[in-house]
Amino acid sequence: MIRARVSLNPGAVVAPVSRRTFGSFVEHMGRCVYTGIYEPGHPLADEDGFRTDVLALARELGVTMVRYPGGNFVSGYRWEDGVGPREQRPRRRDLAWRSIETNEVGIDEFAKWAEKADVEIMYAVNLGTRGVQEALDVHEYVNHPEGTAISEQRRANGAEKPYGIKLWCLGNELDGPWQTGHKTPEEYGLLAASTARALRSAEPDLELVACGSSSSSMPTFGTWESTVLEHAYDLVDYVSCHAYYEEHDGDLGSFLASAVDMDFFVNSIVATADAVGARLKSTKKINLSFDEWNVWYLSRFQNAPLPEEWKVAPPVIEDRYHVADAVVVGNLLISLLRHSDRVTAACQAQLVNVIAPIMTEPGGPAWKQTIFHPFAKTAALAKGDVLRLHIDAPTYETAKYGAAPLVDAVATHDPATGDVTIFAVNRDVANPVEFTVDLSAFESGFTVAESWILADDDVYAYNSKEAPERVELRPFDGVVIDGGAVTVTLPKVSWSAIRLTR
Ligand code: AHR
Repeated sequence: MIRARVSLNPGAVVAPVSRRTFGSFVEHMGRCVYTGIYEPGHPLADEDGFRTDVLALARELGVTMVRYPGGNFVSGYRWEDGVGPREQRPRRRDLAWRSIETNEVGIDEFAKWAEKADVEIMYAVNLGTRGVQEALDVHEYVNHPEGTAISEQRRANGAEKPYGIKLWCLGNELDGPWQTGHKTPEEYGLLAASTARALRSAEPDLELVACGSSSSSMPTFGTWESTVLEHAYDLVDYVSCHAYYEEHDGDLGSFLASAVDMDFFVNSIVATADAVGARLKSTKKINLSFDEWNVWYLSRFQNAPLPEEWKVAPPVIEDRYHVADAVVVGNLLISLLRHSDRVTAACQAQLVNVIAPIMTEPGGPAWKQTIFHPFAKTAALAKGDVLRLHIDAPTYETAKYGAAPLVDAVATHDPATGDVTIFAVNRDVANPVEFTVDLSAFESGFTVAESWILADDDVYAYNSKEAPERVELRPFDGVVIDGGAVTVTLPKVSWSAIRLTR
């Protein structure tokens, strides 16, 4: 039997779990908004046209924050198209996804949806085709209480109180040549700094996110962040990270080790940001907003051109997720939690239909993809402090990342309840691994409060409209507590969560 071991210590705290780790993303893209969160003719639509089945699933997923309205979409978006009487709102071309945007949903509708879903809004401004003035205008619309032209416009449109949005993205992926209004790091750094300065004059305690690299494979990775932060260090709170993973050419082993790359990504950007801080003799720390992450079969999308015809909400990148994808998603959450001292906001991209944990059929049902399950359980059970741990596990050789540990894990300890939760993955494609967690540093004995496993003989099994519950979490029997240690046998390609209580 292959064995792995870890010791937990309540005093070895990385940081408290940030609730913003469990963010998601709603972009005006494909069917995320239209026939995703919003479908007025649907039998389950509420009085505002929102699908109540999707709202219920978003709540069950445990999403705490949602980034809106893009994405690549935002870099050509005029926010004012989406406010005021619906019949007067213009239809526009969305160049990012070659679609027609009807503007039936804008910030007022989204704010209503966010309230119903009980999530914080993370708002992205357009710094692709627009600049400081338009960022100030949308800020005035959403956050200025009253008595100015634009805040009165919001009130006239039915929202008497400001929305109080705290977290703002200064554009999206402007390092990418595909981005409308793509910029050099120098150009973007200057624009991000002047936009941040202006927004702060309006509301000093906003939390601002400067765009980092759109992927760690970009040729400008690292130098982009460094140049941007040289200009904006004192003015922003976060730099963003985006990362998508997929299995290439049947290389499941490398795919299962995707979190190794996420760890590398985080460590590199923390080092880069801290180096800029050191050069500037600043004691301030810039945190990371991992505001786009997921499994995305991007290569399939790149090989399939966008539709010729301009349509409203055409299906775009509706990836279907299998068991191994869910294990990777669970492992990416383990990585994000492990870095809770610096990654204090994150958004899985996206929420509905577009590379999403929730799928819908227009006029029909909504169902959970496999990746729904590790997200929902982690959001529900990761409470209190993240513990620093060193896993003693055998490694396996991957083509992409070299030697990777067979087991990865993170643990949280909630001082309020005394509960300890362990999240673990077995990356072995063929064998189970016996995993022992030493708890002798804790005072009293534990019992198992709940334990869950996501695994299947068929690692490519998936859920669909016809079989929405083909892949579910199962109670994980066989968790053995013996003295000060817990031992479990993790099946091949599995994700698990074990909550211990006293
Ligand atoms: O989430 C899909 C797209 O991926 C986003 O619009 C963009 O920011 C990223 O490249």
